[in-house]
Amino acid sequence: MRWKRSLALFLLATLAVTAALGASTVFAAKSQLVVYSWWTAGGEADGLNALIQLYTKKYPDVEFVNATVAGGAGTNAKAVLKTRMLGGDPPDSFQVHGGSELIDTWVKTGYMEPITQLYKEHGWLKVFPKSIIDMLSYKGEIYAVPVNVHRGNCLWYNKKLFAEYKLTPPTTFDDFFKVAEKFKAKGIPALAIASRTKWEVAHLFEDLLLGTGGPKFYNDLFAGKIAWTDARVKKALNTLKKMLDYVNPDHATMTWDQACGLLLQGKAAMTVMGDWAKGYFTSNGWKPNVDFGVVPSPGTKGMFVVVNDSFGLPKKAKNRENCLNWLVLLGSVEGQNAFNPLKGSIPARTDVPRAPYDPIALGAMDDFAKDTLVPSCVHGSAVIDSFASALNDEMGVFVNERNVEATAKRLEQQAKDLGVRQ
Ligand code: GAL
Repeated sequence: MRWKRSLALFLLATLAVTAALGASTVFAAKSQLVVYSWWTAGGEADGLNALIQLYTKKYPDVEFVNATVAGGAGTNAKAVLKTRMLGGDPPDSFQVHGGSELIDTWVKTGYMEPITQLYKEHGWLKVFPKSIIDMLSYKGEIYAVPVNVHRGNCLWYNKKLFAEYKLTPPTTFDDFFKVAEKFKAKGIPALAIASRTKWEVAHLFEDLLLGTGGPKFYNDLFAGKIAWTDARVKKALNTLKKMLDYVNPDHATMTWDQACGLLLQGKAAMTVMGDWAKGYFTSNGWKPNVDFGVVPSPGTKGMFVVVNDSFGLPKKAKNRENCLNWLVLLGSVEGQNAFNPLKGSIPARTDVPRAPYDPIALGAMDDFAKDTLVPSCVHGSAVIDSFASALNDEMGVFVNERNVEATAKRLEQQAKDLGVRQ
């Protein structure tokens, strides 16, 4: 009989444990917020982490799922995102560039919910610049919250190297090549580039197009009003070709942050990259205007290539409420000032306290307010995705072939085939 009692007790105990476990499982099943981005490198990952910390502090019951896909400029992430979106399994929110990438790829195709109401509730119509809101709008509705403004046309330089050789950072193409010759004579690559994922070369090239032809030419070219066989495109390609004589020989193995790393190590003098490079430098302990400096990339003084990161609400988001709270955080003064000083960008809001920002960011804020703004192609804003990635691919070919005529011709053909040329 004793064994029967023991068995009964054992069963009872088991039942109690199972029930308790069941209850605690139900209790512990937090709702989630799945946020998708490609911020994995130094600086960009720090900015994202600051936002995650703020969010989880405010909403401790929500499990934040940081769904990143590594690869600068989203070259890998955008493809994975497409599979998820088209397969009906969107993340709750995702990093997206304002302009064509948001509007043509996701809004016109019916994948996003408008969030104009949030703008009204939080007074955002007054604090975000119209130029940015326009990039996020379609037919009178707004579809995303801008977390930052990055500047694309920046030439970064190692201050110690420039001081050592008594050189001034170049702002014209002529000066660039004079300085580049000096570094070449000392056996130092003047310009660090990365070409493993190709977009970095395309990034440099779009800055060269702007520096060569100015904002109107740049805008008309990406709007399909000017042929890619135009003399100014060829001039920019020739400049790029010449620049390739002064670059690090191992660029084919490198990504953008590794190229910036060459400056850090004193192994290259300059690089042309968006100001997420500043986030990378500072996250590695470099001080703005002490260890490194910046000037607009050659020929682009008074011009500002806008790169905008925004987040929106996909229609089938599984955790809609959590996403709305995320968007509110991104649009808040607190969110913008937690993120941008680490990310290297400036806040999209124009009313935030300036104290957390370094002198380079403060300069970028002033320039953004007065410069001629143009949208980036490589970072999704100026032109449809298919042409932007065709340009990346062409630049990957160009670094090896260096054939100006053939590249110009193929770009023109791509523009026609993809419906970009009017
Ligand atoms: C850009 C993005 C930036 C930065 C950069 C490198 O496309 O807008 O925020 O992350 O890529 O990954």
